Amino acid sequence: MTIHKVGVLGCGLMGSGIAQVSATAGFKVTVVEVEQKFIEKGFAGIEKSLTKFAEKGTLTEKPDSIRARLKGTTNKQELADCDIIIEAIVENVEEKKKMYESIDGIAKKDTIFATNTSSISVTELLSATNRPDRFIGLHFFNPVPLMKLVEVVRTIATANDVYDTAIEFAKKLGKVPVRTSDRTGFIVNRLLVPYLLDAIRAYEEGVGSIPDIDNAMKLGCGYPMGPFTLLDFVGLDTTYYITHVMYDEFKERRFASPPLLKRLVLAGWYGRKTGKGFYDYADPNKPVPANF
Ligand code: 3HC
Repeated sequence: MTIHKVGVLGCGLMGSGIAQVSATAGFKVTVVEVEQKFIEKGFAGIEKSLTKFAEKGTLTEKPDSIRARLKGTTNKQELADCDIIIEAIVENVEEKKKMYESIDGIAKKDTIFATNTSSISVTELLSATNRPDRFIGLHFFNPVPLMKLVEVVRTIATANDVYDTAIEFAKKLGKVPVRTSDRTGFIVNRLLVPYLLDAIRAYEEGVGSIPDIDNAMKLGCGYPMGPFTLLDFVGLDTTYYITHVMYDEFKERRFASPPLLKRLVLAGWYGRKTGKGFYDYADPNKPVPANF
């Protein structure tokens, strides 16, 4: 099957990034949001990112012509002619299932449904549709325009041609697809989440300060960000949510939230997006580490 038109559900950080890379790769894209203001916010981010790429000379065409392929709408009916629809709404099983139920009758029979979930079972989500064989996981990484990886998640119901199409689609976006199966966390979060949680435990046990642990992993292992910088970047609320799904699946302590992570989330300190987490971002260019 050939993909011409892409639908994206949700225009937050991930949805807008997916829409941007799809339009940049030459696809027509329709992004659906619940309110116009979310489309405007997401499109402003796309604008900023495209401008950066244009300044660096890494685009093969003018940002204007990429933008011309992007459409934002609050009307789900506009997804009717999409060949693939990628969902990137809030990480909540019930919300996602409701969304899939609502578009199952709008989309063409052979349209592929994809979810960008980072932890929810793809199999549980496909049960909300009448197209179990045409349903896959496409897990992108933040920031989507820069991160090369896409995890392509196969379920026990996925048809071979759908999986092959998804792999080819990820390549057309300029990404490197990796094949994985529907096990909570897939490859990256299965390994990354216990590491991030261990960094919090190490801090709780007095092994080192927040900047020292960050510097240790950055400079000692060549990671682009230390674990606390990455936690604040991903969002502590998101990480906390993932720990619940992963702990529920595996019942292993390594996936359980350390008490400090829970306290930060309860306090509403979600990291960069709220201005405070393991660092204070009053001046976003000079984050100040916390000392709890
Ligand atoms: N669009 C275009 N350009 C962008 C951009 C965007 N969205 N974001 C940053 N850039 C540009 C910057 O402007 C900068 O340009 P410059 O070199 O001209 O100044 C360049 O990219 C590099 O950015 P920075 O100087 O800010 O910082 P870095 O060199 O550290 O690169 C990074 C940024 C690519 C984010 C790097 O730090 C990194 O790889 N960090 C790790 C990110 C990561 O692990 N992501 C995965 C999170 S886990 C996840 O998403 C899964 C989920 O399920 C939890």
